[in-house]
Amino acid sequence: MRTQVVIVGAGPAGLLLGRLLEQRGIETLILERRSAEYVLGRIRAGVLEHGTRGLLNAAGVGARMEQEGLPHDGVALCFDGEQHRFDFHDLVGREVMVYGQTEVTRDLMDARAASGAATVYEAEDVAPRDFDGDRPRVSYRKDGVTHEVACDFIAGCDGFHGVCRQSPPASAVSSFERVYPFGWLGVLVDQPPVSPELIYANHARGFALCSMRSPTRSRYYLQCDAGTNVNTWSDERFWDELRRRLPSAAADALRTGPSLEKSIAPLRSFVAEPLRFGRLFLAGDAAHIVPPTGAKGLNLAVSDVAYLAEAFGEYYAERSEAGIDAYSARALRRVWKAERFSWWMTTMLHRFPEASAFDRRMQRAEFDYLSGSRAASQAMAENYTGLPM
Ligand code: FAD
Ligand code: DHB
Repeated sequence: MRTQVVIVGAGPAGLLLGRLLEQRGIETLILERRSAEYVLGRIRAGVLEHGTRGLLNAAGVGARMEQEGLPHDGVALCFDGEQHRFDFHDLVGREVMVYGQTEVTRDLMDARAASGAATVYEAEDVAPRDFDGDRPRVSYRKDGVTHEVACDFIAGCDGFHGVCRQSPPASAVSSFERVYPFGWLGVLVDQPPVSPELIYANHARGFALCSMRSPTRSRYYLQCDAGTNVNTWSDERFWDELRRRLPSAAADALRTGPSLEKSIAPLRSFVAEPLRFGRLFLAGDAAHIVPPTGAKGLNLAVSDVAYLAEAFGEYYAERSEAGIDAYSARALRRVWKAERFSWWMTTMLHRFPEASAFDRRMQRAEFDYLSGSRAASQAMAENYTGLPM
């Protein structure tokens, strides 16, 4: 078997890369470890930057997002019950789109199925090989049979726990990491959201976030201790704790119900450098993780693959390696800015177990400065709605 680009991973990064390459007439094979149903069952991100929305539309997969997605032109940040709204239209003339990662993934899967491009789900033991030369290969096992695919390039879109970042010699990869001493406990519920806009709250009992997926489906998160067992959180305990952490108007408006999904995500900042090892390229969570507070993870995966598709497009159309040579540095410049924003939002809004009284005063001053300064608010809005791709 032979193809032009083997993409490892059928999350948003892998599927979107496949779509962008298809638009450029480049043939791809996607190898995914899990089943399609499993991939669609993961409840993850919910906020799309202005540029992500534009890119999904340009890729021809934005129709349902435009119909069913919820454009938001502001968010609220709260500190000890005091609430401040950031008006994105007024501050930077932009908005974000609330549309779940599950739906983005479904739209991309449908487009790929319609195009006839090949995807192998439940591919086991995927192994990138010989990517330091000019004839890379990828082997995998499906239904007990081993296959090997020759290709020009391998795109590692296989998430944080994937095989691609582990494939180059350890000495070739530099990692930068911060692990936070808490996680997010998330609940999905079929009830209208407490407010038409997202609310991020710093409360003495810990961070809380009110988000949504539709006018009738809400997504809520609570800061929890690292290592918390999700089974110790009944629905009732979750709703009681959420009410305590929200400003009173939101707490009063909260409509609860049985959770459709409940899970814990650890919080981490992580970047691997570089993003290229010969003919193997990393994109999305395979290369970097942000804590979810800035809603940047999915959006960064999108900008990575937009750059990578341009680079591969240039290679095939013009036989120029300039784009693939520039990919790692170009993508990393944007990655580090999103890492900074996510780290800053996380630091301002969470309760850190080791925080001193001084640290807590600094958080409060950060919030007061941000909400009182138009310049600071514009910087926040510029980052939240998305830096240029
Ligand atoms: P993934 O979505 O992780 O996709 C990688 C794919 O590769 C997966 O389908 C995986 O099964 C596959 N794969 C892995 N290993 C192999 C292998 N060896 N062979 C073949 N296939 C393989 N971001 C936000 O902005 N907001 C959130 O609320 C939020 N919540 C999150 C909660 C969790 C639990 C996690 C893990 C992430 C969350 N994120 C959130 C981040 C966001 O979802 C990710 O940034 C986004 O999914 C990245 O897309 P990706 O395609 O790079 O990686
Ligand atoms: C959601 C997740 C985030 O991390 C965030 O900052 C905003 C919204 C969500 O899942 O809806």
